[in-house]
Amino acid sequence: MTTAPTALLISRDDYNTAVDTALAACAAYYGDGDTTLDDASYDALVHQLAAYEQEHPGHSRADSPVGKVGGGAAPTGDVAHTVPMLSLDNVFDADGLMKWGASLARRLDAPVRGGYAEEPKLDGMAIAARYRQGRLTQLIGRGDGSHGEDLSAAIGSIVGLPERLALETTVEIRGEVLLTRAQFEAANELRTAHGDKPFSNPRNGTAGTLRGAKSRGYTIETTFFAYGAVSLDGVDVLRGDTHEAVMAQVAALGVQTTASTEVGLRVYATLEEVQARIEEIIALRPSLPFGIDGVVIKANSFEEQRKAGFATRHPHWAIARKLPPVERRTKLIGVEWNVGRTGIIAPRAVLEPVEVDGSVVQYATLHNPKFIVDSGMMLNDVVTVWKAGDIIPRIEAPVVEMRGEDATPIVFPDCCPKCGGDIDKSGERWECADGAGGGCGLLAALKYAVGRDQLDIDGLGVTFLEALVENGDVADVADLFTLSREQLAAASRSDKRADTLLTQIAAAKEKPLNRVFCALGVVRTGRTLSREIARHFGTMDKIRAADAEALAAVPKLPGANAPKIAAHIAAMAPVIDKLVEAGVNMREPVVEAAGNGPLTGQVVVVTGGMNAALHGLNRNAVKELIENAGGTSSGSVSKKTTLLVAGENAGSKLAKARELGVKVVTEDEFAEMVATHLS
Ligand code: IVH
Repeated sequence: MTTAPTALLISRDDYNTAVDTALAACAAYYGDGDTTLDDASYDALVHQLAAYEQEHPGHSRADSPVGKVGGGAAPTGDVAHTVPMLSLDNVFDADGLMKWGASLARRLDAPVRGGYAEEPKLDGMAIAARYRQGRLTQLIGRGDGSHGEDLSAAIGSIVGLPERLALETTVEIRGEVLLTRAQFEAANELRTAHGDKPFSNPRNGTAGTLRGAKSRGYTIETTFFAYGAVSLDGVDVLRGDTHEAVMAQVAALGVQTTASTEVGLRVYATLEEVQARIEEIIALRPSLPFGIDGVVIKANSFEEQRKAGFATRHPHWAIARKLPPVERRTKLIGVEWNVGRTGIIAPRAVLEPVEVDGSVVQYATLHNPKFIVDSGMMLNDVVTVWKAGDIIPRIEAPVVEMRGEDATPIVFPDCCPKCGGDIDKSGERWECADGAGGGCGLLAALKYAVGRDQLDIDGLGVTFLEALVENGDVADVADLFTLSREQLAAASRSDKRADTLLTQIAAAKEKPLNRVFCALGVVRTGRTLSREIARHFGTMDKIRAADAEALAAVPKLPGANAPKIAAHIAAMAPVIDKLVEAGVNMREPVVEAAGNGPLTGQVVVVTGGMNAALHGLNRNAVKELIENAGGTSSGSVSKKTTLLVAGENAGSKLAKARELGVKVVTEDEFAEMVATHLS
């Protein structure tokens, strides 16, 4: 299977249209880094243009991309290259490789004697790295081959390209910068966290990373592999008669070369051996930590390279054997909305099956609703699918020029497809907001349970919670209390964080009943009602024993809600049992009997910034403290107010309290008043 157009260009009109298509694709590629034509289609198109131009030399357009580096659209920049940075000619199969070998032998007037060096064709961005007296002084992109853009801002962020060489050598090292699969995932996590659009694939991401390095507020790490070296500033340090020897010298200087990869560099005496190795590389390709789009074969001997010479844009002594593309086009025939274990509602594309990188792709992730909206994708659009190794296939973009009349808008769900509950659309990823329903809002429920007003396990951020759920360690709130250090370390990717979390979880076990009850996320109850319920019943056993009628007697609890609350508490029985088993506190500290507390009869307003004396308690905790001490907490100063606690920068409330003659105390004074309740 191939995506390359097979029809030959017959008329001059066909030719002109094809040149325009190729130029538009190049401009898009070098513009925002997103292709409108996949690689294989582009290569095939340029091949057809070349064939047409050979047959009709008079029709050749000056702006034709044939024979031009980057199709003539590559950003050139203004740094002159020491020696032109050339491209490679391509072959697509064993036959093409043999033909290249035969033409090379003809140019040499003899069979190749120095052997063939075989290397991976790395799918990234070519750069020249200039080292002067052992220091990395400048990075330059390929540009149009004679001039390139200065990319020095990326120095220091490229693995394999040290800022200092092992020797104080002056030399220009050439090679490919790329994002490994792991770096690609990390880059997209970083980009999303900073509100930037994720890269559509590692190759486009590499160009975007290097070009944006100067203006970006964060650093994206890339990787470099050298495949060549040339003299710089007239200093001639390169020793050896073969490509292999020079690359060994480059590696000895401390720069990473293709030789350090699993698929290169190797030297073979015959093209048959080269071909056999290509087959092995094809088999290895999905498991490589980075993308390759082919294998490069070079005459190993410099003498033979010199004899073979160059065409305008590529050497005769090297060839790229391209591998099947990892990008293909197909049709988007549906969008499914799946609810994951964590309650995340993720869109998935249903595709007309297409073979990519050795397997048939029928589904691809669409990430999140924003991705669909931003890409302008519609149902029945032709889309570009990218898959490499074991990365989940992804859709890069719709091919808008190919949109047919059957394109219709993609429909977004308005309730959770699994439980019918509400959707929390506040984040980029949508979540089932119904933490109580059918378990599909598990992540939402856990996030709520560990919140400041509930169990206050603030080290358990959403990423770690997600990992715990994904790892199968947590299926409900109670499971948080039996997590082992190993499980926490695996989820948080740090032993140190695991220890902090263990301490926080241990502290959470001692929280008063109202917090523990609140953490259950019982329907129609929040922080205030949880406190009322806990205070009213005193123990979890009594809460569980209460029927709707008994619950309706709780202050502030609307009677109409009581049956639902009772039913939910009953449904939570297994989780509550597990909490008891884990040793979580199930009692509410005895609230001061009326007339007994330090704040009994007081209506207290707290205003301004609070500091150390109240242990940095948040507003809700201070409110709880006041109530535990027998007082009533209020948000505004009125005639009923009896005490104002004025913190830093207290403003209008303080003024009003003074006006009304209300007693005013500082945070320290207040802390002393309630000292017995401040534990
Ligand atoms: S040698 C004069 N070796 O492929 C020869 N190029 O399509 C210059 N590439 O511009 C290139 N891996 O960006 C060479 N092992 C390798 C390569 C490689 C990837 C890229 C390079 C080049 C492009 C040509």
